[in-house]
Amino acid sequence: MMSKVHVLDHPLIKHKLTFLRKSETGPKEFRELTNEISTLMAYEVTRSLSTQEVTIETPLEKTKAEVIAGKKLAVVPILRAGLGMLDGILKLIPTARVGHIGLYRDPETLEPVEYYCKLPTDLEERELIVVDPMLATGGSAAAALSFIKERNPLKVQFMCLVAAPEGIEKLRQNHPEVEIFTAAVDDKLNEKAYILPGLGDAGDRLYGTR
Ligand code: PRP
Ligand code: URA
Repeated sequence: MMSKVHVLDHPLIKHKLTFLRKSETGPKEFRELTNEISTLMAYEVTRSLSTQEVTIETPLEKTKAEVIAGKKLAVVPILRAGLGMLDGILKLIPTARVGHIGLYRDPETLEPVEYYCKLPTDLEERELIVVDPMLATGGSAAAALSFIKERNPLKVQFMCLVAAPEGIEKLRQNHPEVEIFTAAVDDKLNEKAYILPGLGDAGDRLYGTR
């Protein structure tokens, strides 16, 4: 099995991503665009949710209609930059549960270390969307997905704004069953593992920390 990659290249997403990439876009606009793109992407990422039939009454008669089945899904941003996508997704699925996972890379071993992890209970009955704007080497996403999968969720999808081919390959090797949703697949990584052309450091641009 190979991770399926969905490139969500709707014209509105492409247009907003262009402004997100531009170096003159400041944190206020960067945050707004990140949320707007995330809302548009959430529409597609949730397409595979199953529905169940319920009986309702319209003002005229009883009828059968559909609602989303099962337990509320969970959105899991990877700290810190993943938080920038959260509100945009919750706009479409406001009852979703939210988990947080924080990782840093040990400078000596280069292994990702989990520094925070709080996930909803009953993960084995929930579908999950793990979110991070950037999939660069794929190290952070692969580690987050490994921690999350220890809790046996029903299904996991990964959503990012910009993916590098290297990161896609890493997820394909480590988590082949996880579908990847991205707004763009860029060219490559530079020597510092930044995505080219990319958009720079997503966390710093969201929060104005540089
Ligand atoms: C960024 C980004 C991803 C990671 C991607 O986070 O948000 O989590 O880098 O790189 P990778 O695919 O090579 O692991 P960063 O480590 O800068 O932390 P931050 O979100 O706290 O800014
Ligand atoms: N993390 C980022 O925020 N941007 C990149 O280009 C790579 C990793």
